[in-house]
Amino acid sequence: MKKILFAASECVPFVKTGGLADVVGSLPKYFNKEEFDVRVILPKYMMIKQEYTSKMEYLTNFYMDYLGDHKYVGLFRMVHDGVTFYFIDNEYYFSGSHPYTDAFFDLEKFAFFSKAVLSSLPILDFRPDIIHCHDWQTGLIPVHLKAGFGYNPFFQGIRSIMTIHNLKFQGVWSVEEIQRLSELPDYFFSSDKLEAYKDGNMLKGGIVYADKVTTVSNTYANEIKTPFYGEGLDGLMRARSNDLWGIVNGIDYESFDPANDDLIYQKYDARTFRKEKVKNKTALQKDLGLEVDPKRMMIGIVSRLTDQKGFDLIQCVLDQICSDSVQLVVLGTGDAKYENMFRHYDWKYQNSVSAHIYYSEAMSHKIYAACDAFLMPSLFEPCGLSQLMSLRYGTLPIVRETGGLKDTVEPYNEYEGTGTGFSFANYNAHEMLGCIRYAEHIYYDKKREWNKLVDRAMAKDFSWNSSARQYENLYRSLL
Ligand code: ADP
Ligand code: GLC
Repeated sequence: MKKILFAASECVPFVKTGGLADVVGSLPKYFNKEEFDVRVILPKYMMIKQEYTSKMEYLTNFYMDYLGDHKYVGLFRMVHDGVTFYFIDNEYYFSGSHPYTDAFFDLEKFAFFSKAVLSSLPILDFRPDIIHCHDWQTGLIPVHLKAGFGYNPFFQGIRSIMTIHNLKFQGVWSVEEIQRLSELPDYFFSSDKLEAYKDGNMLKGGIVYADKVTTVSNTYANEIKTPFYGEGLDGLMRARSNDLWGIVNGIDYESFDPANDDLIYQKYDARTFRKEKVKNKTALQKDLGLEVDPKRMMIGIVSRLTDQKGFDLIQCVLDQICSDSVQLVVLGTGDAKYENMFRHYDWKYQNSVSAHIYYSEAMSHKIYAACDAFLMPSLFEPCGLSQLMSLRYGTLPIVRETGGLKDTVEPYNEYEGTGTGFSFANYNAHEMLGCIRYAEHIYYDKKREWNKLVDRAMAKDFSWNSSARQYENLYRSLL
């Protein structure tokens, strides 16, 4: 049996701020259980709902030397959906209403977590062959494995993988601070290791020291070798390109299934969507106080409201979009400028724009099911899960051709009768507007073609089935 331990800062159903949580919470279920025992270790945040914490089993605790102090490390375990989860408890670090608090404290929080993960292994009932690390929060783990921990025979032979879900976030502060928080000697702070542009960089440590590096789509794996997408680390990505794999994300086809989703108004599937899907639209229109009109095209957005997702393009042409015969339903939180932009348009176009500035799993499902199209014009997108959820619900994505959006949405070709959505190439607001209007034209003037696009979208398989096999190959290549 090959033993794999995922280490991450978020994971559904316990704590989620974005797609990372979806991936860490669903992928482990899809490995071949005869060959792989994949478990997950997470911080035990105070904000995790009691329905889960009450099911956690207390294992043990110990005190770990960290920053010149003895720090409490509690260990809990829970089996959920057939997967074993471990939780690291420390109320000083993991209290609060959100997994991420201020940027500086987060560095210490996750440096502590990374050290605590490794310190816990000798007393867990599970010695992993591979530690699979996710994003900067766990970037120090591969470094520690090669540094102090690596001198202990227990840790020798444990391999590590660093998966980049978003290269934009690297865990950066001054060299002095990162050195203090990581407790690593001077040797590690040269420009070929944890130093980058005179700062200390936790993710860079993970990328340099992991045995393999992956990211969440093929296109993004190539893009990050270029200066535009490389976030300053493109040289390192090129240097590690022999060990860099792009494996596209999947989604949990059980949690996201229009035929079996209790969060939506009307269930439907690939056979019945022509009659049933629209009932989700009219019910949502009614609930949100929009004009109830089954024929009106509805465009959805469910997103973190940040520059990454292309909201400056939307801002530039939002009045034009709203002057068309469409309704826009937005769900998201993030930068104040975009939250306020959508609040303003919600007020300005009361019949056609409905903005929801909060986080809600239930509302997100209703939007994926109700809308005709889903807008995601990202500046960059490592993979993107929202467009996969949309495809699953027969809601056609309108996307920019970047990263995972390019790999998962096939643009409509009216001459060949192919495609599952609409896309445009350049980061340009009017190119996006042209693409949206082309989609409107197909929706209003060629409804049969539109429905065939929905047929093809719903027939696509973005479950974990094929990507989990690629992770299995990756693990085998290391063992
Ligand atoms: P990212 O991880 O960059 O935010 P993804 O597309 O990979 O983007 O994943 C976003 C996930 O977060 C999706 O599951 C999406 O439905 C969900 N999501 C984003 N914002 C909200 C919100 N306000 N309410 C509910 N779900 C949201
Ligand atoms: C990041 C990326 C997103 C990706 C997700 C899960 O949040 O922004 O594109 O889908 O991680 O890998």
